[in-house]
Amino acid sequence: METKLREIKEGKTFFLVPEFENKKGPGKKRSGFYNPTMEMNRDISILMVQWLVDTANKSVKILDGLAASGARGIRIANEVEGDFFVTINDWNKKAFNFILRNTKGFDNVEGFCENVNCLLHKKRFHYVDIDPFGTPVPYIDAAVKNVIPSGVLAVTATDTATLCGVYPKTCIRRYGAMPLHSWIKHEVGLRILIGYICREAAKYDRGVEVLFSHSTDHYMRVYVRLRKGAGEANESLKKVKTVDAVDFTYENRKTEVGPLWVGKLHNRAVLKKLQNITPRKTLGKRRDVEKLLTRAYEEVDLPIFFYTIDVLSSQLKVSPPKPFHVLEKLKELGFKAGGTQFGDTSFKTDAPREEVYRVFEEVSSS
Ligand SMILES: C[S@@+](CC[C@H](N)C(=O)[O-])C[C@H]1O[C@@H](n2cnc3c(N)ncnc32)[C@H](O)[C@@H]1O
Repeated sequence: METKLREIKEGKTFFLVPEFENKKGPGKKRSGFYNPTMEMNRDISILMVQWLVDTANKSVKILDGLAASGARGIRIANEVEGDFFVTINDWNKKAFNFILRNTKGFDNVEGFCENVNCLLHKKRFHYVDIDPFGTPVPYIDAAVKNVIPSGVLAVTATDTATLCGVYPKTCIRRYGAMPLHSWIKHEVGLRILIGYICREAAKYDRGVEVLFSHSTDHYMRVYVRLRKGAGEANESLKKVKTVDAVDFTYENRKTEVGPLWVGKLHNRAVLKKLQNITPRKTLGKRRDVEKLLTRAYEEVDLPIFFYTIDVLSSQLKVSPPKPFHVLEKLKELGFKAGGTQFGDTSFKTDAPREEVYRVFEEVSSS
């Protein structure tokens, strides 16, 4: 039977995917070959690859390793400017045929139909994108070992229930880390994912520098640069720790989480560059991307974990104040404070918990 096709436009790129039902919810079957809810994820990778190509002084070799119909790789080939070459791979024959069809006429692309782990051991790349269904764990070993030093590894995880503590035993088996099912669960999950990548890289004497990371909708996404050398690996590992999340649990109870990444979630200079590249690009999710980059910029130098207005109001039994007023007060007192990507009414601060409580009560009653 012939597959019905649908033409998609993302960014300024057109491509074909198998017809799919565009509805959410149980019983609504969706194509495994194209996921429209990942458009923002792909928009950001266009910015990141553009940054990498802009900063490299050589031709950049890019791998879209788990490509399905090739949406991401084709967009990179069509929308990034400069000197680069894209390899688009999927081990599924049908997906591969879509990749070939969608890349006809491009002279900066090749298609592969291989197990990505084998491909990574045969060919080397400056940028590797790992975007699987569910957990990325089966691909990280080959990826961290083979990305060209100083190159970038981009990883998506959609096993968020595991990373966010719904299935702690699975998280321990998969990522070797204890998650936390509280309001900070997405940050804990994101940091567990980075910590895992860091530990995997360290096996091969490689360190990681986190360029940008986010938790959006049903997925987490991390961009790290891999640095060569045992010293780099040791330095990175210093930032992977088990921490006590006592202040961020509903019961204020001693609670060990991790090991997880306690370093920065973004690189400030890279964020600035991504913000500068954004206006030059055609992005379907521009507003969401800009909001995320702004929040990332706000949180980049703030400590790990965050408070949230709703939880604090219910813990302290006071009416919820405007986040802005809490932040202003904390800053007035000389603390660092700012918004975070993890929620519109969430904030990070270096103020001790007692001080946060005191300020919160004061602002809420004024
Ligand atoms: C979530 S989809 C990729 C979506 C795609 N990156 C996009 O942005 O539209 C995951 C793809 O990985 C492919 N895949 C799974 N395991 C693989 C492996 N070991 N090697 C190559 N491809 C694999 C599947 O066939 C599937 O098409």
